[in-house]
Amino acid sequence: MAEGTEGGLTYLVTARPDSWELALEDVRAADPGARLGEAVGPGLFLVSSCREPASLAYALRRQGPFVRHLFPVAQWVAGAPALAALAAAAEAAAAPLDAQKPVAVQVRALVPGLAADVRAAIEGALAAGGWVPTRGDAPQVLSVVVGASASWVGASAALHNLSPAAGGIITFAHPATRVSRAAGKLLEAFWVFDLPWPSAGRALDVGAAPGGWTQVLLARGLDVVAVDPAALDARVARHPKLTHWRGTVQTYTARPPDGAFSLIVNDMRVDAAETARLMGPLADRLDTAGVGVVTLKLHPARRRRQMRAALDHLALAFRILGCRQLYHNRSEVTVALAKRGPPPSPEGVH
Ligand SMILES: C[S@@+](CC[C@H](N)C(=O)[O-])C[C@H]1O[C@@H](n2cnc3c(N)ncnc32)[C@H](O)[C@@H]1O
Repeated sequence: MAEGTEGGLTYLVTARPDSWELALEDVRAADPGARLGEAVGPGLFLVSSCREPASLAYALRRQGPFVRHLFPVAQWVAGAPALAALAAAAEAAAAPLDAQKPVAVQVRALVPGLAADVRAAIEGALAAGGWVPTRGDAPQVLSVVVGASASWVGASAALHNLSPAAGGIITFAHPATRVSRAAGKLLEAFWVFDLPWPSAGRALDVGAAPGGWTQVLLARGLDVVAVDPAALDARVARHPKLTHWRGTVQTYTARPPDGAFSLIVNDMRVDAAETARLMGPLADRLDTAGVGVVTLKLHPARRRRQMRAALDHLALAFRILGCRQLYHNRSEVTVALAKRGPPPSPEGVH
């Protein structure tokens, strides 16, 4: 059985290493009775909670931005990693999973060089036991974290893990033609928040230079207005669907509106309060079904306070769909936004 904490269920929680204390605060806000267990690795710790996985995930999705990923631990395997013991633990942990649906096997080896062998052993054990292991996304996940002197195994609904990737660690191919690695931040936001990509229409990219996000938006077939006083990379600058407003967002917003956008994204390098303040006037330019993605840059010593203040400000103009510290975020969080609905009509209020 799970060990390392006392009482309740044991969860293995992942956060950015420099955010793990904020992540623990998030878990404690969701369950004041939660107790910290062993630290398993950088940004990885065990915590006990009486909340069930569905209810804990629901609470953390709403207000737990610094927890990147978690899973309930069903089996704890002591000692140096041994394939037979891990395969047996995985088979035992998988018992509650639905054999009719595929199971994503997610292995994180803290000991280099072991992941492939552990995965193969576990996939073999699951297949022999009648489950359908897969390397792709699946509605249920068998999670394994392999450490030097202990390993942890759990089974859960993918939705309850907060991220579809093991530990929330997701990387994207970075072809030589890609303008910047920042593209991964936008791609991850769409994936983690499950946002719909507009199939056509216009996107506004605020703080766009050198053009990593703009390049992604253009590749999606969108017409892009990129707002930034700095130059855009030559690989996007002459794209026929691009308009570069070579100035600040303040000067852009001061002009008469030039139409609505199905997507507004903002990765400006200014502090979170300023980003939230400058987003307000853009809310009217978002289509009714449009979405927004905004990064909030946080001072390392005031992250929680700055984030809360900025979210309160954003909520005056937008509906907040989610806020998380993603794998691609450093000292920042990413916020997903939608258009605020109209206020209820007087007849609708009872
Ligand atoms: C982190 S970079 C954006 C990277 C971009 N998302 C990409 O993928 O290449 C931040 C940008 O914000 C821009 N910026 C800072 N203040 C701004 C403002 N007031 N209006 C518009 N852009 C601003 C900077 O010039 C800088 O190019």
